[in-house]
Amino acid sequence: MRKIKIESFLDVFPTMEELPEAIFSLMEAAIVAREKAYAPYSDFFVGAALLLDNGETIAGSNQENASYPSGLCAERTAIYYAGATYPKAHIKAIAITARAKDKLTTTPIPPCGACRQAIAEYEIKQRSPIPLYFMGESGEVLKSESLENLLPLLFTSKYL
Ligand code: THU
Repeated sequence: MRKIKIESFLDVFPTMEELPEAIFSLMEAAIVAREKAYAPYSDFFVGAALLLDNGETIAGSNQENASYPSGLCAERTAIYYAGATYPKAHIKAIAITARAKDKLTTTPIPPCGACRQAIAEYEIKQRSPIPLYFMGESGEVLKSESLENLLPLLFTSKYL
C-alpha cells in the first residue's frame, strides 16, 4: 500500500475590488444574475457569469422547483445556455456569487460537486483551463486556476 497526496492552491483576493478589471466586471454580471434567481424554497440566491472568447458574457441563476431535484444550480444554468448558444466558444473565466436571505454570506461559496462535474466537461472539451472566481455576498474572492484544481480525480470520458 502507498499513499498519494492531492494538493490544491487557490488565490485569495481580499475583496472583489482587488480583482482584475475584466473579472470585476464579470463578477458584477454574476451579482446581477444572482438577483434574478428563482429560489423560493432555499432563499439562497446564486449567480454565475461566464466570459467567452467571442466576447460574450453569459449569466445564469439558480432555478428552483416545487419538485426540489428538478431545480438547477446557477452554474449549470449558465454553462448549458452557453454550450447550447455558442457551441464553439471557449470559456475564459467563470465568476460565482451567492447570498442568503437573512444573513450576510461573507465566505466564498464554491460550486457544488455536480456543477464541478458539469464544468469539467467543458474544460476538457476546450482543452484549456477555466479559471473560477467565487465569493459570497461580500468579502474574500477565491480563485481556482482551473476546474480540475477544484475536482482532482475527476471522472471523464476517457474511462468509458
Ligand atoms: N446552488 C447553486 O446554484 N449552485 C451551487 O453550486 C450550489 C447550490 C443552489 C441550488 C439551490 O437552488 C440553492 O443553491 C440551495 O442549495
